[in-house]
Amino acid sequence: MIVVSILSQKGGAGKTTLSLHWAVEAERQGFGPVAIIDIDPQGSARKWAERRRENLKLETPITIKADEDTLWRNDVSMSDVMVALEGEKINMVIIDTMPRVEAPCVEAARLADFAVIPCGPSILDIEAMGPSVEILESTGTPAGVVVTQARPNSSINAAAAGKLDSYGLQICPTHIVRRAALMDSLIDGKAVQEWRPSDKAAERDITNSWVWIAYQMERLKDEQRRQTG
Ligand SMILES: Nc1ncnc2c1ncn2[C@@H]1O[C@H](COP(=O)(O)OP(=O)(O)OP(=O)(O)O)[C@@H](O)[C@H]1O
Ligand SMILES: [Mg+2]
Repeated sequence: MIVVSILSQKGGAGKTTLSLHWAVEAERQGFGPVAIIDIDPQGSARKWAERRRENLKLETPITIKADEDTLWRNDVSMSDVMVALEGEKINMVIIDTMPRVEAPCVEAARLADFAVIPCGPSILDIEAMGPSVEILESTGTPAGVVVTQARPNSSINAAAAGKLDSYGLQICPTHIVRRAALMDSLIDGKAVQEWRPSDKAAERDITNSWVWIAYQMERLKDEQRRQTG
């Protein structure tokens, strides 16, 4: 089972939007069964899954509430959730986190094979990445950055990627452009790939960025294989 955590201590960076889209994309690309773990008490991913069940009668990707109420206060750990998911033959877990430096986020980082930090292209977004990078350094989790809410046809996206270089993380060559379709598709519990097959640009951003994430995980596995001989 592979675990990918989507982490950003900056609110509104795009964690939930990308968690949901990547989860659907991972299913489409054959990485499933996929589970989304929603550790944010805000519960946006879980509410999306409810709309998905009601409107589309779809149970996939399965979405699990794992916030303070359901887990930590009841002395159930994230590791317990992982064991249960392994038992259900889940292949890919995507953890959508909350914008705080708190134990559940650190745990999500610790459990991840790979963490992704979504980051906007503005200097304010880039400068705010520090706490997320510190969490990932403390857990030793391999990580990459995806520039999101990028401006269409603007050199600011590449400039942002250049500035992000200073954090020493992998940077996704695909930028997720700010598009209404990425918001609107979620209303009915869909992802943009399922919503308007004609909106190829948004779909391409999601597909290509997920291909990059999958490639990063493959690369890490190769490295581990080489190290263990
Ligand atoms: N690429 C994008 N294009 C258009 N809108 C986007 C994009 N990414 C995020 N948004 C919008 O930005 C807002 C914040 O996104 P989202 O809720 O995914 O961020 P978040 O990091 O999960 O926030 P929080 O920190 O509150 O959990 C939402 O209104 C969402 O629809
Ligand atoms: Mg969120």
